[in-house]
Amino acid sequence: MIIKQYLRDKKKIVEDGMEQYMLSGSDLLKNHLEAMRYSLFAGGKRIRPILCIAVAEALGYSDDSVLPVAMSLECIHTYSLIHDDLPAMDNDDLRRGKPTNHIKFGEAGAILAGDGLLTFGFDLLSHPSLTKNLPAETQVKLIQVLARSAGSLGMVGGQAIDIESEGQDISIETLRTLHSCKTGALIKASVQMGAILGKANSKQYQAFSQYGTHIGLAFQIVDDLLNVTASTEQLGKKAGSDAELDKATYPAFFGVDGTRKKATQAVSDALACLEQFDDRCDPLRELAQYIYSRNK
Ligand code: IPE
Ligand code: IPE
Ligand code: MG
Ligand code: MG
Repeated sequence: MIIKQYLRDKKKIVEDGMEQYMLSGSDLLKNHLEAMRYSLFAGGKRIRPILCIAVAEALGYSDDSVLPVAMSLECIHTYSLIHDDLPAMDNDDLRRGKPTNHIKFGEAGAILAGDGLLTFGFDLLSHPSLTKNLPAETQVKLIQVLARSAGSLGMVGGQAIDIESEGQDISIETLRTLHSCKTGALIKASVQMGAILGKANSKQYQAFSQYGTHIGLAFQIVDDLLNVTASTEQLGKKAGSDAELDKATYPAFFGVDGTRKKATQAVSDALACLEQFDDRCDPLRELAQYIYSRNK
């Protein structure tokens, strides 16, 4: 399988779905909705929705209802990026190769665009039209997994630890928790939501959840690495910013080579979780490798 082609194909499906489901509203909301669309359609690898679809398909589930579920993940992720870039947070002015949301729409506009995307993610996931294809109980489970992972015990909590850790001496355990929360939680949720859609049994759900934990950690370790080794042009966001902000990162702890080893380890831990599955999980195996080898 050629992962690049797989990613291109799935990205197109996700983005077509996003066009189909995106909110529209009166003229009074023109700027606000445009600010939401600006970041949502600015590009991005769409890894979270693709993971959700890949797990669901590995379990034999392919239905259009996967699209709003996958899109809810991308809405939450995009909101987290808009808020992450704000002056009070990482204060970045470039994202996905374009000026950040607050540079384009002002701080209040960006905060509200983030709020709008966060809320819209749950609107999509709880929409009555989904129950045409999914039992209500499944829908509630999906909402719960996303809420838990995106909230204070997951992504938001990770962001809080990240900000509080700037310039501090923290332990490697704290760093691991920080990474697992701020980035790992939503990636793990993407995998779990695919498993819920695919009606995974409890053994399968466990295995996919562990896979999600490992690739989630690998994803942020590689994000740290690229911040040191790649260029701003390549990333579409500012390189070298972690050191400038004195962020707690893997390269700060282990150096570049040590960090590569940690990322390789996390990927092989992820692959080990898929051993019980057949070749329908090959895209997930290749996605784990891609998370390590990606260059942006
Ligand atoms: C970047 O996420 C921020 C992290 C949580 C590490 P991605 O690397 O998935 O960003 P996009 O969506 O492709 O822009
Ligand atoms: C982003 O982490 C995590 C979230 C947005 C939840 P970073 O701040 O390390 O990611 P980039 O490098 O800005 O994308
Ligand atoms: Mg940050
Ligand atoms: Mg940042």
